[in-house]
Amino acid sequence: MSVRGSICAALLACACIASRAAAPAAPVIHPGSWPAAHSRGLVDERTEARISALLVQLSVAEKVGQVIQADVAHITPDDLRRYPLGSVLAGGGAGVNGNKRASAAQWLQMAREFRAVSLEGRPDHVPIPVMFGIDAVHGHNNVAGAVIYPHNIGLGAAHDAELVRRIGAATAEEMSVTGIDWDFAPALPVPQDPRWGRTYEGYSQDPALVSRYAAAAVEGLQGAAELDGKQQSGHVAATAKHYLGDGATQDGVDQGDSRVSEAELIRTHARGYVAAIDAGVLTVMASYSSWQGQKAHGNQALLTGVLKGRMGFEGFVVGDWNGHGQLPGCSNEHCAAAFNAGIDMFMAPDGWRALYGHTLEDVRSGAIPLSRLDDAVRRILRVKFRLGLFAAQRPYEGRAALFASAAHRALAREAVRKSLVLLKNDGVLPIRANARVLVTGPGADNIGMQCGGWTISWQGDDTSNADFPQGESIQAGLEAALAAGGGRLVDGHDLGGNDRPDVAVVVYGEKPYAEMFGDLQLALYNVGMTLEQLRKLRRQGIPVVTVFLSGRPLWARPELDSSNAFVAAWLPGTEGGGIADVLVADAAGRPRHDFSGSLSFEWPNGAVPVRGPLSAVPAAGKYPLGFGLSYAGSGYARPAGSTASPKSAAGAAATR
Ligand code: BGC
Ligand code: BGC
Repeated sequence: MSVRGSICAALLACACIASRAAAPAAPVIHPGSWPAAHSRGLVDERTEARISALLVQLSVAEKVGQVIQADVAHITPDDLRRYPLGSVLAGGGAGVNGNKRASAAQWLQMAREFRAVSLEGRPDHVPIPVMFGIDAVHGHNNVAGAVIYPHNIGLGAAHDAELVRRIGAATAEEMSVTGIDWDFAPALPVPQDPRWGRTYEGYSQDPALVSRYAAAAVEGLQGAAELDGKQQSGHVAATAKHYLGDGATQDGVDQGDSRVSEAELIRTHARGYVAAIDAGVLTVMASYSSWQGQKAHGNQALLTGVLKGRMGFEGFVVGDWNGHGQLPGCSNEHCAAAFNAGIDMFMAPDGWRALYGHTLEDVRSGAIPLSRLDDAVRRILRVKFRLGLFAAQRPYEGRAALFASAAHRALAREAVRKSLVLLKNDGVLPIRANARVLVTGPGADNIGMQCGGWTISWQGDDTSNADFPQGESIQAGLEAALAAGGGRLVDGHDLGGNDRPDVAVVVYGEKPYAEMFGDLQLALYNVGMTLEQLRKLRRQGIPVVTVFLSGRPLWARPELDSSNAFVAAWLPGTEGGGIADVLVADAAGRPRHDFSGSLSFEWPNGAVPVRGPLSAVPAAGKYPLGFGLSYAGSGYARPAGSTASPKSAAGAAATR
């Protein structure tokens, strides 16, 4: 060995010892203890042979391109000529050339421009279609005018997997119209702490429900597992995210540390992935969070040993937005460790150019084994073939009639009806259709607040009703239902005469937020003013119906006590009319639709401490999982994870 070589070896050994001494005891994962799964419909001999044939044609530089994804805010189609990247994404609020209000046609044009360059015949370039990803997490929510469905927490309350499948299919259809191939959904966290700002992206705190929904969402977005050429039939690639344990972080801190046991990871947090893989999910996104102090992006045992080994996942793993840059010793521009641990595609929104150079050097130096690169590229090409991206025809593109169609709006409205959970009703609901109704509160005529985060922009906090030309506010929905039944809205100024309200519907709750901006330490939750309004109305003898908009269960005892009825409406999306469907009866007072939703998260009775253990919250008086009242007469508790219809639990005391 040369002097230089031996110094290097000695340095390496030292570095190794030093890092061993400094690092906390490495958590041990036992892949054999995890549930087995099988990537259905991903691998077949003919396609694998085509992939092999392509791989031998690709230069190392082109292979490295495939494993990098850039954000459209930071790359132009022309850049792909020098940097043949495998994928682009439009992050929350990226828009088209910065325009967040771009039309569906403009989105399609952008997708086609990137695709065209990737498919060019050029010297030293093998045409491989670029794959375009986006967060369509409650409908195609980055595209102005799309139908926005309830956020996942509301769908969880609906306890209806078929509904989730239909919403997935409708979302995929709208995405296909705009030429976008890949959805960063479904999120499959099993949130254990409602202080987490991403609680609403989770279906439930109950892993059984998350697991059932995982399969339904994947099948809705992707179509049947064996279906080839998904993009040709109006489907897209789904993403099971964020792997693993994002819903387990200490105190519900976003991107925090999950300090649960391996057994708890398996029991609670892995369930959705098993179901998604068995349903043929094409991609998995790594979590920003850590497990026992180790970032998921660098956890080889979890990414490779468990996910690709024990769970037999044959699609590819994408990193989260610069998630690789958070690993010790890494930056956004350079991180062999994440790739070697099992990330197949870096999400490198802005640092992609330097990352490309460094990753190429890493392969040439052997810091990234060529076999690892080939494995990642094979997985990415497999997904591109499954999607049918190599085919020339895209029959769904540009079919404007499918975008925000009447059928999709009706589906969203159905979802709103089914997601509502009635926590209290002294008999004020349903409202007769010929009543005079005062509708008030900050959420009454505010479609953006109905939609929450991930709506047109990342935080969803900069929209106005004009951004939702097809949408309907809760107030507009109530007005229409009353107009049809002989009733009307009144403004509350005349308390003695003909305009005296028979009832007030007060709509309030959380303002939009996404990710860490919603961690409760930072939350904007403040309903003090509305509480005073509620009490004033009660003093005036006007019964109060609260419609509560929130991305999680929140302590609302004073509001519950000051209301005659209390409806948890979650973040219902653009079809506010679904609320009137359930709240407003016909003129004879018969409900047009009953409440059928029930809690997929426990609703606390005591205030949640900002930090510290949730066990400090008193259990007395909390609303248990499965709780939800209905007109048909019962308070009931649906057993966790059961699919039983609430109506079958009749027999309990009538609510009025
Ligand atoms: C989020 C992901 C999302 C990605 C792309 C990240 O910040 O954690 O859920 O898919 O951004 O927008
Ligand atoms: C992007 C989001 C992304 C977030 C990550 C934002 O700038 O628009 O898509 O999830 O950054 O921190």
